[in-house]
Amino acid sequence: MTTPLRIGLLGCGRIGVMHADLLSGRIDGLTLGAVYDVVGEAAERTGARYDAAVAASPDELIEHPEVDAVAICSSTDTHIDLLVQAAAAGKPVFIEKPLSLALDQVDRGIAAADAAGIPVQVGFNRRFDPSHRLVRDRVADGDVGDVHLVRITSRDPAPPPVSYIEVSGGIFLDMTIHDFDMARFVTGSEVVDVFAHASVRVDPAIGEAGDYDTLVVAMRHENGAITTIDNSRQAVYGYDQRVEVFGSGGMAASDNPLTTTSVYRNADGGQLSTVPYFFLDRYIPSYLAEWESFLSMVRDGTPTPVSLADGRAPLVLGLAAGLSVRESRLVRVDDIG
Ligand SMILES: NC(=O)c1ccc[n+]([C@@H]2O[C@H](COP(=O)([O-])OP(=O)(O)OC[C@H]3O[C@@H](n4cnc5c(N)ncnc54)[C@H](O)[C@@H]3O)[C@@H](O)[C@H]2O)c1
Repeated sequence: MTTPLRIGLLGCGRIGVMHADLLSGRIDGLTLGAVYDVVGEAAERTGARYDAAVAASPDELIEHPEVDAVAICSSTDTHIDLLVQAAAAGKPVFIEKPLSLALDQVDRGIAAADAAGIPVQVGFNRRFDPSHRLVRDRVADGDVGDVHLVRITSRDPAPPPVSYIEVSGGIFLDMTIHDFDMARFVTGSEVVDVFAHASVRVDPAIGEAGDYDTLVVAMRHENGAITTIDNSRQAVYGYDQRVEVFGSGGMAASDNPLTTTSVYRNADGGQLSTVPYFFLDRYIPSYLAEWESFLSMVRDGTPTPVSLADGRAPLVLGLAAGLSVRESRLVRVDDIG
């Protein structure tokens, strides 16, 4: 049996702990080697729970003898510094989205990773969701024909605390970024321009923090297809995640799974189960699959399924959408970067 690839986890918050859990006995060939968090207690707790070494600094984690590759799951504003450090150590990197809130920072990270020649995979997990992936496959196989329209719906069950909103970079960079990635993924075509409307319909405190909770984005792709995205921070029925691609040969769509397969009917109609509550309920299979891909990228040298360029492009679209709302106009992607 080959020795498992040992991952060093930077950041033991909400998503970091989930990754720690998946890396601890859920995937053959991967294991959690060590953890670090700027909040020592969080690292101690995660290390103890998953039987991993606890490092005293990012450097110590990256250089740790029990770490073969690094997972950057800390707050967004720390991602690029940590990527540059991991690149300097020559270690492969898994890095959560968004890469950063600033394009110049992303470019610094890309330059460091390129210079070091390390393999890097960005955490756009929805690409690995089996239903969304089948939509992409139908398009790539030509079953949908020429793509005319794409519709992406992404609605959270409840907004995050305003303290999170304040440091998130805003809804376009925090939430819609997944949908910008999905649009590129399912069409295989770059976006040329973006128009967005955004509003505050859920909680005035979100507006007071300078953000929006409800939005629509319309984008034109290089191949002429048009994508629309709608987002809400609050869907009372749960986590609503749907993708549809329509073209000259038909359409392909992914719908929400249901929490049970039960059906209730009476004289008035019927009732189905709820949809999963949030991303940890819906997307665990996708997070597992992204780790399997990471393993094959590092072990077998397969190309990264989500490159740093794939991490950069949706940031550009998010910045374009923000500008579109502020200036009430169509924004050309080339004008942003
Ligand atoms: N792919 C996804 O589905 C998904 C889901 C949620 C979050 N995320 C992304 O993951 C990242 C973390 O999000 P979260 O929800 O876990 O946030 P969080 O606030 O719960 O956790 C962030 C953790 O990073 C730690 N941290 C801060 N600076 C650090 C540093 N220099 N070194 C190490 N640790 C440090 C914090 O102490 C905290 O424990 C964000 O970039 C977020 O956008 C991705």
